[in-house]
Amino acid sequence: MIKAPRGMKDIFDPRFLKIFDVTRKIAENYGFDYIETPILEETSLFKRSVGESSDIVNKEMYQFIDKGGNDVCLRPEGTAGVVRSFIEHKFDRQATPKRFWYFGPMFRYERPQKGRLREFHQFGVESFGVESIYEDINIIALAADIFDELKIDYTLKINSLGCPECMPKYKETLVEFLNFHKNELCEDCQRRIGQNPIRTLDCKNKNCQAILKNAPKITDNLCENCNKDFENLKEGLNNLGINFEIDKNLVRGLDYYTKTTFEFISNKIGAQSAIAGGGRYDRLVEFLGGKATAGVGFAIGIERIMDLVEIENERKGIYMGAIIADALPIIMKKAKNLRKETKVFVEPNIKSLKAHLKAADKGNFKKVLIMGENELRENTFFEKEL
Ligand code: HAM
Repeated sequence: MIKAPRGMKDIFDPRFLKIFDVTRKIAENYGFDYIETPILEETSLFKRSVGESSDIVNKEMYQFIDKGGNDVCLRPEGTAGVVRSFIEHKFDRQATPKRFWYFGPMFRYERPQKGRLREFHQFGVESFGVESIYEDINIIALAADIFDELKIDYTLKINSLGCPECMPKYKETLVEFLNFHKNELCEDCQRRIGQNPIRTLDCKNKNCQAILKNAPKITDNLCENCNKDFENLKEGLNNLGINFEIDKNLVRGLDYYTKTTFEFISNKIGAQSAIAGGGRYDRLVEFLGGKATAGVGFAIGIERIMDLVEIENERKGIYMGAIIADALPIIMKKAKNLRKETKVFVEPNIKSLKAHLKAADKGNFKKVLIMGENELRENTFFEKEL
């Protein structure tokens, strides 16, 4: 028997579409436009954006050479493709901000476990051209609104990674600290000292964590502007009644972030507890060859929240069936009209009244319309509410 590839799943769960509907509605209410980008992109796009020091690029890409000799990969995340599209369509040359939302599959060659798949889905938003910290607040509020609407409890963690003014100075201090402890750090962290030292801060290795507890923290080393923005971010979230915690080690697993980073965590889903993550990436557009443009966004992991969503199990729609064959053409016509208003299912097989009622009950329909000999003669239906 041929099975779906490891870490990839067929989706039958109606909650998937419910999440799609809710995320779409809220993104549109916030003024975001839909974008669909290719699932396959040039590998170099992710190397240059997500970064060579990240696990995603280093270990997890579905990368291959296509028949034309192009080095391509299945997208491991959505931001890079949206930025590529933003630049390719010259939106960076326009003065007006652009805001996009997307919903689709992402691929990471990870070791599958609960909440961690090789093909998973993300809903994400990306906002371009707005430097104001109020856009970060907007974006976080958008995510919070989605979780509230889906009745999902969360803990929001925030941090600031600083800007090109304060980050390099901080990095120097951190590298000094890391070099002093170099021999005690894991191999990954030792490599990261040269590549992207701040990524050591969220290393999962217990030994590294103990050492890095005492490392200098970026939020204690922010420049005046970043500090002011971080204060405004906290105040803005408080103003909207959005609770948060500050996590000074929240650097995120992708290299493109500057300033704000954030994650939404659920304590109800086990070890893979991040249900959404995002932040600012003010240098990414320029880095990928566009005109310098601020950016901020996040993505929600759909499979991670699916089990947390409750779905109403109320009876819905009309079940129509025939007890004699001559009734079917009339039923088909009637159903066509009724469908303009509601969900209508026509059972094409001729069955007894009892069998129809049983099927309608099993199908969770609200109402039954059945036509037998008498009904056909009188042009009526046997009607029953379930
Ligand atoms: P990320 O933190 O890598 O960020 O992924 C966002 C979310 O996708 C995670 O919080 C998690 O819920 C879900 N996720 C990630 N990997 C898996 C997996 N293997 N299986 C199931 N769910 C997973 C990004 O992807 C950024 N592009 C977010 C962003 C948008 N930043 C700015 N704009």
